[in-house]
Amino acid sequence: EKDGYDWFMRKEIHEQPRAIADSMLGRRDASGALQLDEIRISEGELRDVDKIIVVACGTAFYAGLVAKYAIEHWTRIPCEVELAHEFRYRDPILTRDTLVVAISQSGETADTLMAIRHAREQRAKVLAICNTNGSTIPRESDAVIYTHAGPEIGVASTKGFMTQLVACYLLALYLAQVRGTRYGDEISSVVRELEKMPEHVQRVLDESGPVHELAAELRDAKSVLFLGRHTGYPIALEGALKLKELAYIHAEGFAAGELKHGPIALVEDQMPVFCVIPPQGRDFLHDKMVSGIQEVRARGARTIVLAEEDDDSVAPYADVLIRLPKVPTLLQPMVAVVPFQLFACELATQKGHDVDQPRNLAKSVTVE
Ligand code: BG6
Repeated sequence: EKDGYDWFMRKEIHEQPRAIADSMLGRRDASGALQLDEIRISEGELRDVDKIIVVACGTAFYAGLVAKYAIEHWTRIPCEVELAHEFRYRDPILTRDTLVVAISQSGETADTLMAIRHAREQRAKVLAICNTNGSTIPRESDAVIYTHAGPEIGVASTKGFMTQLVACYLLALYLAQVRGTRYGDEISSVVRELEKMPEHVQRVLDESGPVHELAAELRDAKSVLFLGRHTGYPIALEGALKLKELAYIHAEGFAAGELKHGPIALVEDQMPVFCVIPPQGRDFLHDKMVSGIQEVRARGARTIVLAEEDDDSVAPYADVLIRLPKVPTLLQPMVAVVPFQLFACELATQKGHDVDQPRNLAKSVTVE
């Protein structure tokens, strides 16, 4: 039941620290090496993989976009991400050495299922990341990583998405371990960072007050933009999707670098623009994002900025500042997505919408 929450979705958002911890449980053997469940693909076959294609729909597709950054960074295997319903119609190049990763909370999404059937007909290996034991997609796959979010009732995925991120990171690290592209120490240190994520996500939840005020303030917004770079880009897309799904507000996510190539024409006075700022690092990513905010603000946008807690450089350009715990760039999606989930849930509640059952949507779409 809802445990005192008004919506399953709100309950599920708050269950995320537990869901992450559960999805991390039992992933290391006595020596500290990563082990994943039901990997019926031999280590030799995994070493031969020369391309990874992630297929998924909706929110799961955005988890796939994050996975690409992690997989390519840690394994150096080229990785593409494709909407499952587009995949087989373009006659994708698949061989025995292609690993197709299907991400699906329900395990029953017809578009994703058809994509993996096509992949297997072409002799590619298929690995499923799934939250539902014994569902069709894992049954038809060569390997499965189960997420342990627990049943997700709200149609808009939250803890499902969060645990898909965990599984994607674990998969990337596992491949790096098997293929020897990263040292054991580095893998262990990322796993330790992942083990701290429940705490970080809990802090974001505990400090989410401003999100509620913001929802009241932006209730009548007609259109909202979300900007990010690197792993912040898929999170911008997810933030926009959540607003569309729940609040029925027009929202779009963009890679911030693309702004000047078109979307900046949309920016009007007082238009809300959410910006995900990458951790302060040695590369130029962070500074480039900061100049992106300056550009939209100069055109009258109202900026709502998500940035690391000790990042002082953004304050002058933020109308609203939401602080995120300090985490590695690749893992930032796990903390950055939380304010977006809460914001969409809260805004939809204030508008009187059914948050758990948004209009026109189904939890699992079993037709193509
Ligand atoms: C959609 C749901 O139809 O399917 C989304 O409404 C979900 O919330 C998408 O992200 C994919 O579902 P699944 O179960 O394959 O992850």
